[in-house]
Amino acid sequence: MTNESSKIMSSVSLNDYLQQCSQRIDIALALELGTFDSEFSATPAAALMPQLGAAMHYSLLGGGKRIRPMLVYAAAEAVRTNTDSILLDRVACAAEYIHAYSLIHDDLPAMDDDDLRRGRPTCHRQFDEATAILAGDALQTRAFELLASLDCRPELSLALIRTLAAGSGQRGMVGGQAIDLAAVGQAIDRSHLETMHRLKTGALIRSSIRMGALCAGASETQLHHLDAYGEAIGLSFQVHDDVLDVISDTATLGKQQGADEARNKPTYPALLGLEAAQQLALDLHHQALHALQHFGSGADQLRALSAYIIERRH
Ligand code: IPE
Ligand code: IPE
Ligand code: MG
Ligand code: MG
Ligand code: MG
Repeated sequence: MTNESSKIMSSVSLNDYLQQCSQRIDIALALELGTFDSEFSATPAAALMPQLGAAMHYSLLGGGKRIRPMLVYAAAEAVRTNTDSILLDRVACAAEYIHAYSLIHDDLPAMDDDDLRRGRPTCHRQFDEATAILAGDALQTRAFELLASLDCRPELSLALIRTLAAGSGQRGMVGGQAIDLAAVGQAIDRSHLETMHRLKTGALIRSSIRMGALCAGASETQLHHLDAYGEAIGLSFQVHDDVLDVISDTATLGKQQGADEARNKPTYPALLGLEAAQQLALDLHHQALHALQHFGSGADQLRALSAYIIERRH
């Protein structure tokens, strides 16, 4: 941890906070999936698709930093301290469902063709391609089913569905992935690369923050500042992911190091050089802190997460 992040979270260690959050979301995910499975397993169809549920579990419960759920919790905390925790858990699960699906599809042979994810075989390697595609599809639809079944005002449920859909679809993650695939081997300029990163990774991060804030009843002004924070960390997250692909190693990353260069992917280190890419990530962290200037100590977790995003080693 740098001086910066340790200053921000002086009272509670960031590592403890990350661990607490990740335990919370792992329990919530296991509960949520368990409830769904126990209802579904009673139906005659369930026994006819043994691989599908196993692949969903494998990809969802096999580790991961759980940054998007953490952002749901931390954004709500920045707005107020007593947001309904069951509501937040379910919204956090929906964000992680979309993320898990995006990783399964990202690793497919038709996309990044990766064999290793979170230190284990990728979903299509562990199962098969068709099962991986379907597991991703089912996780995606499950996320929206979950948001549509929340025990909250229908207006909030609708706003959450709209927010997650915007971050996930053509205007968000899927659109960014399409740009990514079209850009392989191309000499794209900086604004093109920025658009790609803001969509493929930034959009779901922004949605997670906005969903947490909506659950906490954020005002338009608060949403505006939190969106600005999300813009900054959404981009810094992928800039640092690109940097790690260069400077880290496969064992630490849990995914193949050097995969971007091997596949001729346009990245920030490739375009700007390693040092300039690292400097950009730091500048974006400062922009993120600036966007939170009107928030009090309730936003300290968001501040610390921004620092963590550009310091993490995997
Ligand atoms: C990896 O996301 C994919 C990107 C969007 C860069 P994470 O780095 O959050 O992956 P996990 O969930 O921790 O494995
Ligand atoms: C993936 O970006 C973004 C997603 C939408 C999943 P990357 O392709 O760089 O992610 P990793 O490096 O495989 O995790
Ligand atoms: Mg990719
Ligand atoms: Mg990839
Ligand atoms: Mg990457």
